[in-house]
Amino acid sequence: MGREKFNSKLGSVLALAGSAVGLGNIWRFPYMLSEYGGGAFILTYILCIIIVSLPIMLCEFVVGRRSRSSAYCAVKRLDDKSYWKYFGSLVVFIPFATLCYYCVIGGWTLEYLFQSCIGEFSSGNTPETIESEFANLVTMPVKPIVMDAVFLLATAIIIRFGVRKGIEKCSKVMMPLLFVIMALLAVRAMTLPGAEEGIIFLFRPDFSKITPQVCLAAMGQSFYSLSIGMGIMITYASYLSRRTNLGTTAGYTIISDLLFAIIAGCAIIPALFAYDMPTGQGTGLVFKTLPVVFSQMPFGSVIAVVFFFAVALAALTSSMSLFEVPVSWLIEEKQFSRRKACFWVFVSALVVGAFCSLSFGVLSDWTFGGKIFFDALDYTVGNYLMPFAGLIIVLFVGWRMPIRDVLDEMNNREERPLSKWKRRSVQLFIFVVRFVSPAAILAIFISGIV
Ligand code: PHE
Repeated sequence: MGREKFNSKLGSVLALAGSAVGLGNIWRFPYMLSEYGGGAFILTYILCIIIVSLPIMLCEFVVGRRSRSSAYCAVKRLDDKSYWKYFGSLVVFIPFATLCYYCVIGGWTLEYLFQSCIGEFSSGNTPETIESEFANLVTMPVKPIVMDAVFLLATAIIIRFGVRKGIEKCSKVMMPLLFVIMALLAVRAMTLPGAEEGIIFLFRPDFSKITPQVCLAAMGQSFYSLSIGMGIMITYASYLSRRTNLGTTAGYTIISDLLFAIIAGCAIIPALFAYDMPTGQGTGLVFKTLPVVFSQMPFGSVIAVVFFFAVALAALTSSMSLFEVPVSWLIEEKQFSRRKACFWVFVSALVVGAFCSLSFGVLSDWTFGGKIFFDALDYTVGNYLMPFAGLIIVLFVGWRMPIRDVLDEMNNREERPLSKWKRRSVQLFIFVVRFVSPAAILAIFISGIV
């Protein structure tokens, strides 16, 4: 049976954007933005994306489409050295580990959606009650695991339908819907009385706030938000058609991800300013501070429902991509049927996810280097494994893969020579991949350790 491919260019861009746009945009980006100086952070983030993340994404695209195989054997197929199997295992393990804790957060968003539907975030409740809702939820033993299971099940069902009928079809519906919802929420927040200060905070960069620490935070965020350094882009690129231009596809993916991040910032930050809420609230921003804002806004309970629906939708399109990587490994390497592969990934992610969830409550004494299991997993994956896998992939494409092959793949394997402009950009790309990207990744790596 032939390998499945995305059906259309639009479908593939939406699927890639679906993987990229997720909790990283709606939950992580706004709180980083508020902590690292608003406009200055946006500017640094854009630069990091262009200089560092775009080339890495392109490397993953080149490896994925050229090998036309799952992340596990992609590099092995292009370079016949047995040690690549370790890299293969790593890029299957990273998305799997991420899936386990990502779906726990996905479960929380479902619970918040449910809570907002029953009017929990209305003016009848005090801010203290609403804020304490989060701590109550995450420390419960059963409810978050049930929600995690529901979220994982929804992901598994979509992936069960395969690349075209599952991932592509759902992304084509969910992404435009998400865009419309987020844009409406942004308009609402920006037109609230008192929101102007928030808009200024977002769009007037204060250059004195750009420090090395801000640059590193922006770079780390761009990795996470674009789902690079974990085999996902390799796997999705292996489903791209031969005629798809890799450069423009990466460009569209990055632009959509950035657009969603900025729109999410516009939907959240001005509202915080309008209601005099603190901005540097870190991870509690979406689950603690925002519900309080909703409870004070006119029609806030309706807006809360729409907002948490959007968060759940964004998380779902990302968890689909995380789920697909181990599934494609089981199908290709272990000859599982898609159905059986989905079942086993679901069961194992649920078991590990249950430990992640319990680590906030009954298992909170079970720590690794002072971190509970959930945080330890997130920390190890984000600070060590993702940058490491990203580094290997750029070193492989920059130094090990024949340049001829890289050029050939970027040119869609066409005989006709590259135009002058294209040749120049490919040369620049190779230079960046050889020197700039590895240096940047090493910097993130070291900053994560010290
Ligand atoms: N990019 C996703 C987001 O922004 C998170 C994610 C990371 C998804 C890695 C898949 C892989 O939420």
